[in-house]
Amino acid sequence: MSQALRKVVFPVAGLGTRFLPASKVVAKEMLPVLDKPLIQYAVDEAVEAGADTLVFVTNRYKHAIADYFDTAFELEHKLERAGKRDLLAAVRGVLPAHVRCVFVTQAEALGLGHAVLCAKPVIGDEPFGVILPDDLIWNRGKGALRQMAEFAAAENAAAIAVEEVPRSDTHKYGIVDAAAIDQRAGVIRHVVEKPKPEEAPSNLAIVGRYVLPGRIFGLLEQTRPGAGGEIQLTDGIAALLAEQKVYAYRFEGTRFDCGSKPGLVKATLHFALQDPALAQVVREVVAGEG
Ligand code: G1P
Repeated sequence: MSQALRKVVFPVAGLGTRFLPASKVVAKEMLPVLDKPLIQYAVDEAVEAGADTLVFVTNRYKHAIADYFDTAFELEHKLERAGKRDLLAAVRGVLPAHVRCVFVTQAEALGLGHAVLCAKPVIGDEPFGVILPDDLIWNRGKGALRQMAEFAAAENAAAIAVEEVPRSDTHKYGIVDAAAIDQRAGVIRHVVEKPKPEEAPSNLAIVGRYVLPGRIFGLLEQTRPGAGGEIQLTDGIAALLAEQKVYAYRFEGTRFDCGSKPGLVKATLHFALQDPALAQVVREVVAGEG
């Protein structure tokens, strides 16, 4: 996998039940953290990692994502005529000119592994990234996927992002058992999807960033439904372990689980506190003066 990472898959066909009723009509990936939807943070991270082809695995309720990355001629024209250069730059900046978007549909919600498999015709047999936009990762330096892409290319291996979680939360994540895991990265020996705390091999959880070889598709085609009756990406990765090195990678950065209300609130406050005017607003609200 010493090739550069050109393609990144965004599985965005999930229902987002934790944000009902809003997610009845607003795709959860379109929920904003300040003035940018969640999907924008994910796309920015992919582009920074070197991607020029973004593959969205979507469903019939997620038109807004395609609309968002499409050119808004009328809006741009109006902003241009009104001389609103900053807003025009913000609207045009959602996607650099050299990046293209491809949309594939996942007709049935059969699991994350199945969603990734839907991208096979676009990816082919090259290494690719996967970003789960619910996991927003902020870092002052290089983005998480870029860190992983560089590592995977140097090691000629696959890489999965991990971080420690409380033991009581292992049933929410894929959990890895890896060698030398006190270091930045360690070879995964074993991985299991959503184990009970007493059955978990560690408390090192998979976070939504992966650098995978095209070979994973052949393995996913043979993967039977696992945890929750779904075709799990984790089970495809478990099969990959028998064939090649897959590293658990501790990225540098802060993860916000924006698939949950506490995570979305934390991310919003985090970014608000970086803006002096908004930081003042947050302080006033917290002090009960807002
Ligand atoms: C998915 C993966 C899981 C991973 C998690 C990270 O689970 O199946 O292995 O730990 O994303 O966010 P989900 O959150 O879709 O249930």
